[in-house]
Amino acid sequence: MNVQTREALRWDDLDSVKFADESAAVKRLADETGLDAGARKRVHDGAIELVKTARATTRSRGLMDSFLQEFGLSNKEGLALMCLAEALLRVPDAPTADRLIAEKISGGAWAEHMGRSENWLVNASTLGLMLTGSIIDVDPDARQNPGDYWRKMTARLGEPVIRAAVFRAMGIMGEQFVLGRSISEGIKRAKKGEGALCSFDMLGEGARTAADAERYHKRYLEAIDAVGKVRGDKPVELEHGVSVKLSALHPKYLAVKEERVMAELYPKLLEQAKLAKSYDIGFCLDAEEADRLVISLKLLERLAREPDLAGWQGLGLAVQAYQKRARFVIERLIELGRETERRFLVRLVKGAYWDTEIKVSQVAGVDDFPVFTRKVSTDVSFMACADVLLSAPKRIYGAFATHNAYTIAAIKQRAGAGTEFEFQRLHGMGEELYASLAKAEGNDKTPVRLYAPVGGHKDLLAYLVRRLLENGANSSFVNRMADTSLTAEELAADPVAELAAMEPKRNPAIPLPKDIFPGRVNSAGIDLADPLVREPLLKRLHNLRDRQWEASPTFKAEIPGEIAPITAPFDHGMRIGTRRDASAEEVDMAITRAVDIQPEWNALGGEKRAQLLEAAADQFEAHTDEILSLCQLEAGKTLVDAVLEIREAVDFLRYYAVEARRLFTEPTPLPGPTGEQNYLKLAGRGVFATISPWNFPLAIF
Ligand code: FAD
Ligand code: 2OP
Repeated sequence: MNVQTREALRWDDLDSVKFADESAAVKRLADETGLDAGARKRVHDGAIELVKTARATTRSRGLMDSFLQEFGLSNKEGLALMCLAEALLRVPDAPTADRLIAEKISGGAWAEHMGRSENWLVNASTLGLMLTGSIIDVDPDARQNPGDYWRKMTARLGEPVIRAAVFRAMGIMGEQFVLGRSISEGIKRAKKGEGALCSFDMLGEGARTAADAERYHKRYLEAIDAVGKVRGDKPVELEHGVSVKLSALHPKYLAVKEERVMAELYPKLLEQAKLAKSYDIGFCLDAEEADRLVISLKLLERLAREPDLAGWQGLGLAVQAYQKRARFVIERLIELGRETERRFLVRLVKGAYWDTEIKVSQVAGVDDFPVFTRKVSTDVSFMACADVLLSAPKRIYGAFATHNAYTIAAIKQRAGAGTEFEFQRLHGMGEELYASLAKAEGNDKTPVRLYAPVGGHKDLLAYLVRRLLENGANSSFVNRMADTSLTAEELAADPVAELAAMEPKRNPAIPLPKDIFPGRVNSAGIDLADPLVREPLLKRLHNLRDRQWEASPTFKAEIPGEIAPITAPFDHGMRIGTRRDASAEEVDMAITRAVDIQPEWNALGGEKRAQLLEAAADQFEAHTDEILSLCQLEAGKTLVDAVLEIREAVDFLRYYAVEARRLFTEPTPLPGPTGEQNYLKLAGRGVFATISPWNFPLAIF
């Protein structure tokens, strides 16, 4: 498919701005919102109105709100509950589940470990939630001696009751966010008016096995079929649609597996899209992790160019404004719309994986973050992206997904009268705000679509955790709206003005990936998801394949040793080089030399030893290509594992360098009355024979 190769290259280019300089990027976006200061003042006033009306009509706090209030603290306790719930979901049989609970709850050692009130289990209210479905303080004394309380409670009730209670708690929370357990139930509830216009999402994502993926695929087909059958006679934008998470459709839905994704995932996606086309309903690809952006766009483009899908205007996707690439994505989509004569349904969201993106980038040791680090930057980016979307009504039908009053008012202001677009909200969120918008709009209402998850508890967890994070984060609009100490004026603050007043633009509270460890630089990661990094690396590794390596002892006796071939473990016919094992004489020589060298080494002290370790780490990184090649060819590692191997080795070296410095400068906990004795304890231990294990040849060595 020549078309695909040509276009694929264009999406790949997007990654040149994946880690763009945040400061420059947000300054540009702030100039591109399409709203001048006067317009933003009107937005501010409109947002105040929305907040005031919504607050005036808000019913009493729902269970979820109470739960979040009770377990506030960025939901540590709620998340701990989720962790146990998730673990339970994965346990195949009841007796094992009960053993897990017994270990987590009634295990004495655990109860002592957990500290006083750091864990959800120590909170008596949790039990109330789990057993009765309401937040109650079962026993105030429990706060005094929580470990004991829980042990007694479990002993009295038994693990099966607690097991049932955990599932119940999940169910209670799930109900708030899930429209129905099956698609027919979802459609029925939507008809009853709980969501006039829906995009149904079949819960389930991140398939782990081919069987999971097949199951999710079937469910999507069923959903499309069911939604198609109840279609009315309105244009596609005004009918129910379906949203799909691509990660549900293949266990290897990864940028590094592009060939497999195209060969194995794409046919399923195409089957779903064809079915959606046959009913002329909307079909939207959800946005997931940033590393999957480019591959998702390539899939979308293939669909857009399918002759069988020509003429259908229901194809869509979600774009995350928190990504630095967002605006560029939209510009290219508009171009693609022109080329393929389509109008895409583009759902603009801020992005639900922010915490994950930050942590994943830090752990991966990449250059920067693919997302903005200040909430207002995402707000501003959303406005700038909306401006581009709304400027191309022939190519884009904009859907603006938000529960933020300012953002809603900004879209209204920018769109003006007569522009076709819709708002979207998640089931279980934003109801009052949109009711208040409807009131303000009178007869000229903007359509509001409900994103309606459908499914059972087993598939709910990932989605639920994102909703808990979203509702629980104290920067979140929904969370702040529920906080009555904040005025409507404060909630309606202008993000452009707020951003202008912030310096530096990048949030200094979030350390860059290289800076996450005190005292040492994180090992450099390799962003294999980025084709601009991956493809040249693969070429260099290919060129290294024929290189022949020679391994021999560094202390050479004059006797010639046997030269043996080194072959690849996955192909014994593939020769990587030769090795000459050390002879007994050479080992003796090394030991003798070491005895002479030992005092010199001992005298080095901490700083010099640290420098040596750091120099070794730097050398490893300077020879990344060769080491990766060896890890692949000699140890049979995958590229991903080879990268982890070298990074672990570098991290070890730098970690011990920090330790060497610390031990020599801080008073050490070693016994001994004088510094002299401590110094002796830190002397080298002599000569070691090390056989580095085949599975971690570099890191463990
Ligand atoms: P706000 O409170 O104004 O914004 C919260 C958002 O700001 C966070 O979610 C995050 O994106 C961003 N943010 C928070 N802190 C920071 C920070 N320090 N630096 C930078 N940014 C920050 N999300 C997806 O990822 N993919 C989807 O396909 C998707 N589909 C959705 C469909 C619908 C109908 C809706 C309503 C939401 C969907 N979402 C999706 C979730 C969506 O991303 C969140 O609901 C949204 O970010 C909340 O934005 P807000 O304007 O309501 O709230
Ligand atoms: C999520 O699954 C709604 O797609 C969004 O979090």
